[in-house]
Amino acid sequence: RTGDTPATGRQTETYDSAFLRACRREPVPHTPVWFMRQAGRSLPEYLKVREGIGMLDSCMRPELVTEITLQPVRRHKVDAAIYFSDIVVPLKAIGIDLDIKPGVGPVVAEPIRTREDLRRLRDLTPDDVHYVTEAIGMLTRELGPTPLIGFAGAPYTLASYLVEGGPSRNHENTKALMYGDPELWADLLDRLAGITAAFLKVQIEAGASAVQLFDSWVGSLAPADYRRSVMPASVKVFDAVAPYGVPRIHFGVGTGELLGLMGEAGADVVGVDWRVPMDEAARRVGPGKALQGNLDPAVLFSTPEAVRAKTGEVLDAAAGLEGHIFNLGHGVLPTTDPDALTRLVADVHERTAR
Ligand code: CP3
Repeated sequence: RTGDTPATGRQTETYDSAFLRACRREPVPHTPVWFMRQAGRSLPEYLKVREGIGMLDSCMRPELVTEITLQPVRRHKVDAAIYFSDIVVPLKAIGIDLDIKPGVGPVVAEPIRTREDLRRLRDLTPDDVHYVTEAIGMLTRELGPTPLIGFAGAPYTLASYLVEGGPSRNHENTKALMYGDPELWADLLDRLAGITAAFLKVQIEAGASAVQLFDSWVGSLAPADYRRSVMPASVKVFDAVAPYGVPRIHFGVGTGELLGLMGEAGADVVGVDWRVPMDEAARRVGPGKALQGNLDPAVLFSTPEAVRAKTGEVLDAAAGLEGHIFNLGHGVLPTTDPDALTRLVADVHERTAR
């Protein structure tokens, strides 16, 4: 654990890494970089080791998880690793019948929409995800000083998959439940908060140096609805992991109007998508938080010169921030050229070297 003052060796080096220093808003030797969805996706070495193994099966094999998590660190020299898994893994682990369909995403066999259905969401115990503890043990030995980011899906985003039964553009069933039966909705989110908190605790106990809560689809809500119907559950998650002292990152897409509230929910670092410039995001979030972001992932399909120019815009907008972690505004897109990512890491390191 690297949140508390470290004792010796690897722990001290990890604690002093550019990534964790930036999360704590301390001076850094260079702006740290990592990419959401850096593990997997377009890497040929990923496609090779995943051949013939389903996504969820691969998440349960510690050696494979270790290898896939390390691949982008080796190739791109990113400043942090993100644990290879998926936001639906803890739901699968408590017995929800779901699968991840290639090119589609998580699909739930029987959606959760009634009080009766809620009973299928039992508590998560460390034993349910023993392979996570094993994999993180292996990983922290292999990573050297590079920090490992653990993660989980936030209650709203998980609820959206469970209630819709799969990916959704408009989240209409989710919102129907949220507005139509606030009591059942609150109970659903509270149960998910418990599961999410337990899943993050397992990862921190096993050695994750930071955690990110992905509320990918929460940008579909207006601030008043977020505050009333979602924020209490996210607060519960952040409060539950606060005692560990590891940095907590909070990210969602299209959350320009929610940035202040997402910081208030308890994060130490707020993730920003590409729609709001970093300096404006800092004003919306307010003091006392580091920020993470925010190059549009689609920019990487342009020329190297254009990528450099857009990277410069992000760095300029973030220049006055106390605590900036460079990232994309959302995950790496599946057909991204891996070399564009490698160049981007080197470029940010070079231009921000102090
Ligand atoms: O960041 C990383 O590289 C770590 C691994 C990771 C995965 N999923 C692996 C994965 C992380 C952090 C996630 C988070 C995740 N999963 C989110 C939040 C982040 C975001 O992008 O907003 C969400 C919403 C999911 C749900 C999910 N799982 C989706 C939408 C998909 C994509 C479906 C597709 O094929 O396009 C998945 C599948 C998934 N998760 C893949 C990977 C590598 C692809 C599956 C495969 O390669 O077979």
